[in-house]
Amino acid sequence: MTASKVLEVEALHCRHGMRSVVTDLSFEIASGETLALVGESGSGKSTTARAIAGLHPIASGRVRVAGVDVTMPVERRPRAAWQSLQLIFQNPDSSLNPRHSVATLIGRPLQQFFGVGRRERDRMVRDLLRTVHLPESYATRAPAALSGGERQRVAVARALAARPTLLLCDEIVSALDVSVQAAILDLLRDLRASTGLSLLFITHDLAVVRWFADRVAVLYQGELCEIGRVDSVFARPSHPYTRRLLAAARGLDTEGMAA
Ligand SMILES: Nc1ncnc2c1ncn2[C@@H]1O[C@H](COP(=O)(O)OP(=O)(O)O)[C@@H](O)[C@H]1O
Ligand SMILES: [Mg+2]
Repeated sequence: MTASKVLEVEALHCRHGMRSVVTDLSFEIASGETLALVGESGSGKSTTARAIAGLHPIASGRVRVAGVDVTMPVERRPRAAWQSLQLIFQNPDSSLNPRHSVATLIGRPLQQFFGVGRRERDRMVRDLLRTVHLPESYATRAPAALSGGERQRVAVARALAARPTLLLCDEIVSALDVSVQAAILDLLRDLRASTGLSLLFITHDLAVVRWFADRVAVLYQGELCEIGRVDSVFARPSHPYTRRLLAAARGLDTEGMAA
């Protein structure tokens, strides 16, 4: 390993029950890099993200974060690994406890990982709300009083509160309006530039991949069929599935232009 590798996934194998859904998957993410992970529904993207986060069992293979072996369930991982890797899901409603205020949700990682006291925590929560372009007054609100896009910003703020070096984003903008999608992507792009954050960015939107990612990995039926720089994979796809994916996306573009 080298210090610049934030994530190393080596021959990862995951099952759902008896069925293998991720097979022999290897890739790395360098410091400050964004790797997009694409593939049709059911190709194993979410399982991969959950396994890396320690939320899905790893049947075989290795996961290292900043050189530290974390091939174990999240509750057995060293605290630092827990903190440095954060996962954001497609649907904030399943990850934000509706009984807690926004301040409690965002404040928890500050307390848990850094032992930040009440007063300081309130200040940092306000800073984080500003970072994700939400009014400070939202601190006292419940998630139910927010729109879907606003709740996803709270989920982003909570992940950022842990000061991660690696963010796993599983279709985090797929359920949102296009304008909200763009705002959240802009936000992540700014953060990446200012903090050197690395991202594993799962999406089915190839336009987002082109605009947002450095490299792209293509998953097909649980196997990596292609990985490389976005411009070279898009210009010269080597796998038939990647070619189909790109052709389908171009088809959509053409329809969009005709409409
Ligand atoms: N909870 C589950 N129980 C059984 N099979 C599952 C479960 N979740 C996902 N799967 C299966 O695992 C495979 C990979 O799913 P997933 O990782 O969610 O793919 P993706 O995120 O690319 O859509 C799919 O065939 C899916 O049907
Ligand atoms: Mg998924």
